[in-house]
Amino acid sequence: MTEPQRFLRPNVIIEPLVDRFYAWHHTVAPVQASMNLAFLQLPMLESYLQSPQVHAAACANPELRGGYFVNVPEARAGEVRELVERIKRDRAGMLRFAESVMAAEALLRQEASGFDLTPLYPKLPADLAGMVELAYDTGNQPTLRYIEPVAYRSPAYLQDRQSVQLSLEAGVERPFILSTPRLPSPDALDLDIPFSHDGLRELFAARLEPTTLGRLREALDVPDDRVVQLERLLTDAPSQSADRHVEAGGRIRYFGHACLLLQSPEAAVLTDPFINADTNSTGRYLLNDLPDHIDLVVITHGHQDHIVLETIMQLRGRVGAVVVARSSRGNLCDPSMGLYLRHLGLPVVEADDFDEVEFPGGKVTATPFLGEHADLDIRGKSTYWIEIAGRKVFVGADSSGIDPVLYRYMRADLGPVDLAFLGMECDGAPLTWLYQPLLTQPVTKRMSDSRKLSGSNAEQAGAIVTELGAGEAYIYAMGEEEWLGHVMATSYTPDSYQLKQIEVFLAWCAEKGVKAEHLLGQREWRW
Ligand SMILES: [Fe+2]
Ligand SMILES: [Fe+2]
Repeated sequence: MTEPQRFLRPNVIIEPLVDRFYAWHHTVAPVQASMNLAFLQLPMLESYLQSPQVHAAACANPELRGGYFVNVPEARAGEVRELVERIKRDRAGMLRFAESVMAAEALLRQEASGFDLTPLYPKLPADLAGMVELAYDTGNQPTLRYIEPVAYRSPAYLQDRQSVQLSLEAGVERPFILSTPRLPSPDALDLDIPFSHDGLRELFAARLEPTTLGRLREALDVPDDRVVQLERLLTDAPSQSADRHVEAGGRIRYFGHACLLLQSPEAAVLTDPFINADTNSTGRYLLNDLPDHIDLVVITHGHQDHIVLETIMQLRGRVGAVVVARSSRGNLCDPSMGLYLRHLGLPVVEADDFDEVEFPGGKVTATPFLGEHADLDIRGKSTYWIEIAGRKVFVGADSSGIDPVLYRYMRADLGPVDLAFLGMECDGAPLTWLYQPLLTQPVTKRMSDSRKLSGSNAEQAGAIVTELGAGEAYIYAMGEEEWLGHVMATSYTPDSYQLKQIEVFLAWCAEKGVKAEHLLGQREWRW
């Protein structure tokens, strides 16, 4: 008897995990992952084991939303204890590597005094051999450059840390991804496979093309006792939306946060994919609204709400290429997005400022991205001009209008913009919120608070619109959609500075005759 044909249910979600923590760039890229494990994740789990009640109370306090508190019930503390023991035993090499990075940075600070650096190489910790180059900048400041492709080939990159947890979107906010490890659940299918596993590509292809339970079971190496959980993810009928392609003209759809889908009959471009899968909800586009083939995915920067693995991993096999900004190739705070995504099995194009990437009937131009990275030397960030179906669209994400003259140069090259999409998170998190585990010298709280992950305020957004000659301006990427709390953990009130600044900006646009809106959830433009 032939097996019945099955499709993936539209509300399947995947949580990619490393040592049970939700994976993002800084917990996967080997150097940064070691530091996050040693200096953030392990100490946080140990703090939880000291007093689970304190963590529970903090997680219940809305004022501490987005803090580093482990949201695991005390009754499951034993499982957290086992996780800690496993990390200490199986990741001893990574923990030592993180200490070696600190030691090497200290060595450089103490001994690199403007003279020949050659004598320092033998003094570097053995873990870093072959992986770093020492250099001075032209101001005579010593720096350590990490040769990241080597790090990915070294024992610091352990693919067996990776696993995935597959389940059905329950419509209930998941715990904050940066703080809470995912423990096994009877409702979820946990698989000890790396993110680049071919079986995952097959699984998600079953959104479009039917397969069989037997075929998927084999492709994913699902153990017998977990086949029931796999079967729960499947259904008999496809659920792709009928209007996911366009027949004529152009269309943009806003999927929430920083995710836009730009379409013509010939092509589709998707920005910062982060898409909800809750089919019980209304007022939002879902994964089944994506076209079958996406020519280009463009990623603006490496923050965990812009490269979102739970969405991007589902697109493998149906994306022409993922466009990312080329990183600085070696700065500790600036791991390569290209290497990261290639190791997930995605095709990548790395772009520098003003590089063009063509697609049928249009092109994407990478343009500079100012600010929003707490004044760290990070180049892995880009804004984009997308020309599609006769329109020019500026995708600004979290970039800041800190120096509006930059946008004058862009316009001189690329002409005026029709639609500008701008983020206005103008009072972002402080430096240490995201980068603490990578800092090799302490910073004071005052320093950290002065260096925020902030985008444009009203004045800066207005200056961008003026310089770009934008006819329409849309505020997006504010993390306000209720379904993305597990990633963003934002908590605006109507009085929040950011929302007040958006009001000021919208009033300014009205005065200047610029069509403008504050986007939330879902929106469509057609022409
Ligand atoms: Fe950001
Ligand atoms: Fe963001």
